[in-house]
Amino acid sequence: MLRDRWPTRLTFLFAAVTSAIGLGAVWRFPYLTYKYGGGAFLLPYLIALVVAGIPLLILEFALGQKLQKGAVDALASIKRKFSFIGWWALFIGFIVISYYSVVMGWSIIYFFASIGTQWGDDPKAYFFNNVLQLSDSINHIGSVTAIVFIALVVGWIGLYFSVWKGTKSVSKVVNFTTPFALVLFLVMLVRAVTLEGSMEGMAYYLKPNFSALLDAEVWIAAFSQIFFQLSVGFGVMIAYASFNDRKEDISKNAVVVGVATVIFSILAGVIIFGTLGFMASSQNVPIDKVVASGPGLAFVVFPKALSLMPFASFFSMLFFLILVTIAYDSAFSLVEAIDTVMVEKTKMKREVIALIVCIFGLFSGIVFTTNAGLYFLDVIDHFVNSYSLVAVGILECIAVGWFLGAGKLRVYINKVSDIKIGKWWEYSIKYTVPIILSIAIIAQLMKELKSPYEGYPQWAIWLGWIAAVIAPFAIAFLIPQKNVQKRQ
Ligand code: PFF
Repeated sequence: MLRDRWPTRLTFLFAAVTSAIGLGAVWRFPYLTYKYGGGAFLLPYLIALVVAGIPLLILEFALGQKLQKGAVDALASIKRKFSFIGWWALFIGFIVISYYSVVMGWSIIYFFASIGTQWGDDPKAYFFNNVLQLSDSINHIGSVTAIVFIALVVGWIGLYFSVWKGTKSVSKVVNFTTPFALVLFLVMLVRAVTLEGSMEGMAYYLKPNFSALLDAEVWIAAFSQIFFQLSVGFGVMIAYASFNDRKEDISKNAVVVGVATVIFSILAGVIIFGTLGFMASSQNVPIDKVVASGPGLAFVVFPKALSLMPFASFFSMLFFLILVTIAYDSAFSLVEAIDTVMVEKTKMKREVIALIVCIFGLFSGIVFTTNAGLYFLDVIDHFVNSYSLVAVGILECIAVGWFLGAGKLRVYINKVSDIKIGKWWEYSIKYTVPIILSIAIIAQLMKELKSPYEGYPQWAIWLGWIAAVIAPFAIAFLIPQKNVQKRQ
C-alpha cells in the first residue's frame, strides 16, 4: 500500500502550523502572560521554545519522516517495547480531543450568537446559565446540555469530513483555512490596535514584572504551554511528518512552525488586551477589573468588549469564526494522528477508521456537555497537560536520545536540512529536556500533594489521575504486551 503524501511542502507546513496554532494561542497564552509577570513571561516562554519546543519538534519530524510511520510503529522500530510510548501519546491525544471539541462547540454556538450579540448586557449569565447551564459544583452532574451537545455533533461531523480521506481531505481543508484564518486575524488585529484605549491594554499585557521569574510555577507553565501549543507529545507531528518524502527539510520546517506559533500567540495577546483596554477606557474602569481567567476570557469578557465596538455583530462573528477555524484545524490533527496508527495496525480503510474514531471521540466528549462539564474539563485538562504530556515528552527523549541514538538521527537531519543543527541538539534530547521536564513534573506533584488542584473533591482529583494518567499508562502497557504474545 502506498503511503499518503502531502501534495506540496507548503501544505505540510500549513497542516503543522495550524495544528500548533489553536485555542492554546488565543485563549490560554494571553491569559498566562498576564498572570505570570506580563512581558516577563515571554522570557521563559521563548526559552522553553528554544530549549525544548523546537528540539522536540525536530525530533518528532525526524522520527516520522525517517521511519515513514505513525507514532506507535515509529517508536516500536526503536525498540519493540517502546510502542507503549506511542500508544500513550495517542491516548492523551484522544482525551484532549474529547474536551477540545467541546470548546470548539462553544465557539460554534458563539459564532451564531454573534448575530445581534445575543449575550446582551450580561455575557456572564449568558455563558454560564444559557450556554453551559453550569451546576454549582462538580458533584452535581445534572444532564446533558442540549445546545452544547448539538454543537458538539456538528463539530464532529466537520471533523470527520476533514480527515476521512487522510492527507487528501486534510490538504484541501488547510489550504483554504490557513490563508482564510490569517486574513481574518489581520483584520481583527488592525481593529484592535486602532481602538481607543488599546495602547493601555497592551501596556498592561506586556509590562514586565521580573520578580515572577523567581517562581518555579512560571517556568513550568511556560514549558507545558509550549508543548501543548506545538502539539508535541501527541503523535500528531510524527504522523504529519510521516507523509513527507524522506528528503524533506526538517530543521527549517521546525523553526518555521515554532516561530509562527509564537508570533501568532503574542499577536493574539495584542488583540485580546488591546480590546480589553478599549473596554476599560470606555467604561472608565481599571483594566485589572475586567480581566478574567480561563474560559471566562474568551467567552465572557471578550464578548462584552466586542459588543461595545461599532459593528459589534460583525466583529464578534469574525472573532468566533477565527476561534472555530483554528480550533478545528488543531482538533482534526489529533484525529489524524490516531487514524494514522489505526490504519497501520488494522489495515482497515481510512474512511471506516476515521468514522469509528470520530464516534468514540463524540461519545467520550459527552461528559463535558453536562451541567458539570466545565469542571470536568478543568480537572482533566490540568492532569493531562501537567503530567501525562510531560511524561511522554521525557520518554520520547529517552527512546531517541539513548536507544535510537541522537547522534545518528542528527546525521540524518543534517543530510536533508538547510539549517544544520549542532551537537547541542543531542545534549538537549539526552539531558536538558528530560532533566527540565522531570523537575517540572516533580515540582508540580509536590504542589499538588500540598493542596489538591483548585480545591476539587478527592474523587474528582482521582478521576483526573485515572483519566489522564493512570488509564492511558496502563492501557498503553497492555496493548503491546498482547501484540508480543500473539507474535510468539
Ligand atoms: N496546539 C493546539 C493549541 O495550542 O490549541 C492544541 C493541540 C492540537 C494540542 C493538537 C495537541 C495536538 F496534538
